[in-house]
Amino acid sequence: MNKQFFIETFGCQMNEYDSEKICGLLYSQGYLETMDNRDADLIIYNTCLIRENAEKRLYGKLGAIKKLKMDNPSKIIAVCGCIPQNDEIREFILKKFPFIDLIFGTNTYDRLPELLYDIELKNKRVVSILKDSDELKEDLPKNRKFSHKAFVNIMHGCDNYCSYCVVPYTRGREKSRNFHDIVEEVKDLGLNGYKEITLLGQNVNSYLFESDKTYNFADLLRELNEIESIDRIRFISSHPKSVDDDFIKAMKECKKVCNQVHLPIQSGSTKVLKEMNRKYSRENYLEIIRKLKKEIPDVAISSDFIVGFPGETEEDFQETLDLVKEVRFDSAFTFLYSIRPGTPAGRREDQIDEKIKHERFDRLLDVLYPIFEEINISYIGKTVELLVDNVSKNDESYLTGRTDTNKIVHFKGDRNLLGKLVNVKIEKAKTWYMEGTRIE
Ligand code: 5AD
Ligand code: SF4
Repeated sequence: MNKQFFIETFGCQMNEYDSEKICGLLYSQGYLETMDNRDADLIIYNTCLIRENAEKRLYGKLGAIKKLKMDNPSKIIAVCGCIPQNDEIREFILKKFPFIDLIFGTNTYDRLPELLYDIELKNKRVVSILKDSDELKEDLPKNRKFSHKAFVNIMHGCDNYCSYCVVPYTRGREKSRNFHDIVEEVKDLGLNGYKEITLLGQNVNSYLFESDKTYNFADLLRELNEIESIDRIRFISSHPKSVDDDFIKAMKECKKVCNQVHLPIQSGSTKVLKEMNRKYSRENYLEIIRKLKKEIPDVAISSDFIVGFPGETEEDFQETLDLVKEVRFDSAFTFLYSIRPGTPAGRREDQIDEKIKHERFDRLLDVLYPIFEEINISYIGKTVELLVDNVSKNDESYLTGRTDTNKIVHFKGDRNLLGKLVNVKIEKAKTWYMEGTRIE
């Protein structure tokens, strides 16, 4: 009988993608996936360290499976991803949860088969961590979640050292993948029926690969735009400091590059941005938005916000609210500032009171949400092209797709439309989604 594994993934798309590779590796070893951890021979948590609540959730999960392991000691319990990359936290976990059998990091998941072999053979705990991705293999089997859209990693790591962020310490130095390998991978996906690709990196705009010549992110977009079988190209995330005119020009020229940019601002105050080490000002950001909207009039802009960064005053926060009103974002992720181990901002003594953080957070949503809804309402009456992703969770006669601008739309349709491009006329709009009727 095949062995079974259960995997739970926390955090960003990069972790989701790493989990697809972990699953692919396990399938290649004869494992099958189960959705019930009680049936699993191997339980894996692919973890995230970006905010404290992601860390706490892992501890909750580990506490809860302790009994499973006690009842069945042959089960292998593994923790991987960003959390074990931090030396202190890894030591803490190893001590606090003695039943963990395997720990591996963001740069060693390709070694999983040999690590499992070691556990079974030597019957002892195995820990495998590397700080950088230099030795990480790219051409791993992947068990992709969808058959019509796929992630493609274009770079590893991050060198930006935003003062609040733990990623440069967990994912190592920034390193761009080989341009030609990426192009081949996308061609291959196209041949296998994939319609949409999402290029992944902590700052895709700083992509740079030198071989026969130098290739930047705009070059990559232009090259991928030529691949006939691919319909849509997305990318996440961009860093405002690296957005240049060539990139905006490439976005405008390339028909397959979706009219959507996720451009995290974090704060609308130049003072706070400086303390965050973001390397752009409020004015720089507004100038990028002005250019993007001028060149690509129907572009959708989304962002990330951190509320309650150390030393953030009421005036700083007001600047964030004013900027939101000026830019009119299509959507956003909003976060309460969370102290992260080893980061400069975490050591500051002027941390903001939790009550004030929550109050500002609510005020930010009060400004953001009506704008999201107003923008969605402006789609009513328009016909949009959707790539159909899923059958609706609540009603199986409904399907869910995304517009070029990354808006979620529900419409009535048959499941044979999954993975296809369809036209839908928008009739209803809410803060986070729209509804419409298919036009044949
Ligand atoms: N606290 C709160 N939010 C954070 N982010 C990164 N680090 C922190 C932190 N310490 C947010 C940023 C980033 C997103 C991925 O997570 O907004 O863009
Ligand atoms: Fe973290 Fe900044 Fe790097 Fe994004 S760019 S991963 S926020 S350090």
